[in-house]
Amino acid sequence: MSKVTVVGAGNVGATVANVLAHKDIVNEVVLIDIKGDFAKGKALDSWQQAPIDYYSSKLTGTSDYADTAGSDIVVITAGIPRKPGMSRDDLISTNAKIVVSVTKSILKHSKNPIFIIVSNPLDVMSYACLKAAKLDPTRVIGMAGILDTARYRAFLSTELEVSPKDIQAVLMGGHGDTMVPLPRFTTVAGIPVTDMIAKSKLNKIVERTKKGGGELVKLMGTSAWYAPGAAAAQMVESIVKDDGRIFPCSVWLQGEYGVKDMFLGVPVQLGKEGIKKIIKLKLNPEEKKGLKSSAKAVKSVIDSFKKMKLV
Ligand code: NAI
Ligand code: 2OP
Repeated sequence: MSKVTVVGAGNVGATVANVLAHKDIVNEVVLIDIKGDFAKGKALDSWQQAPIDYYSSKLTGTSDYADTAGSDIVVITAGIPRKPGMSRDDLISTNAKIVVSVTKSILKHSKNPIFIIVSNPLDVMSYACLKAAKLDPTRVIGMAGILDTARYRAFLSTELEVSPKDIQAVLMGGHGDTMVPLPRFTTVAGIPVTDMIAKSKLNKIVERTKKGGGELVKLMGTSAWYAPGAAAAQMVESIVKDDGRIFPCSVWLQGEYGVKDMFLGVPVQLGKEGIKKIIKLKLNPEEKKGLKSSAKAVKSVIDSFKKMKLV
């Protein structure tokens, strides 16, 4: 894999490109934005960091899709972020049009790329990309679970006073307040987290995780970018290296977990073909109930997207 395009050079897109360049695992990172020379400026600034931080992935910026030709992976971050008081779902009318048009523009110049979607509402924008692209569904993947589990892991790390490196977790469902963190599958250096923390404290962390995006919107007036950008770059890395890593991602489900014809967060193995495998966990009745209500919430936003008749 040699070329990655990041669409949208705003807070998240510029971070994805910058983190990815630091990993030094692809030949070329192209940043594209509709705002004149904005992407050119961001890419040039990032490229001028290369002699300091020692990377050679070539970073360029553009507003011309011809420059994205032959991309192996495309990360879509284009669209508006939410403001305080807004939910991710409130973004659909603006972002759906952007994601559909970006997908079509990319495919004019790149034949069969793997798309990683970041724009919100995430699970629905992944659906929009797949419908517009008409690619194999293993090649369209939504980024949310890595970010949401990272928030959960960071909160646990602070509470337990242990390194975040030692906390492993999985989380399922949509990228919204109905997401389903799974304490039963959370460990601290291999030890079940439930053995290390009181249930009431753990419940508080689960609830904080579900509203983790909103907490940052309240603090900053716009949504987060460092952890989201790093999460998308980690997905690119795993696809490029084809190293068999497993992450929670939003993917097209065809009956897995009782969910059909929509995107929802589940654990998957990533690889050079995009999604290598969907991992099927045995959920207990309470977890199943949480996932079902999250799927219902995502489905209602997909229905709004369908009514827009963009694809
Ligand atoms: P931002 O406003 O900083 O950047 C968005 C960029 O997209 C702007 O530079 C804008 O000019 C560009 N853009 C708009 N239409 C475009 C088009 N047609 N073609 C190319 N570029 C276009 O926003 P930010 O903070 O980077 O967020 C981007 C999106 O990512 C938002 O929808 C936000 O909600 C979402 N997000 C999703 C996360 C997730 O976990 N999935 C986490 C964080 C943000
Ligand atoms: C987040 O969770 C807004 O989806 C974005 O930070």
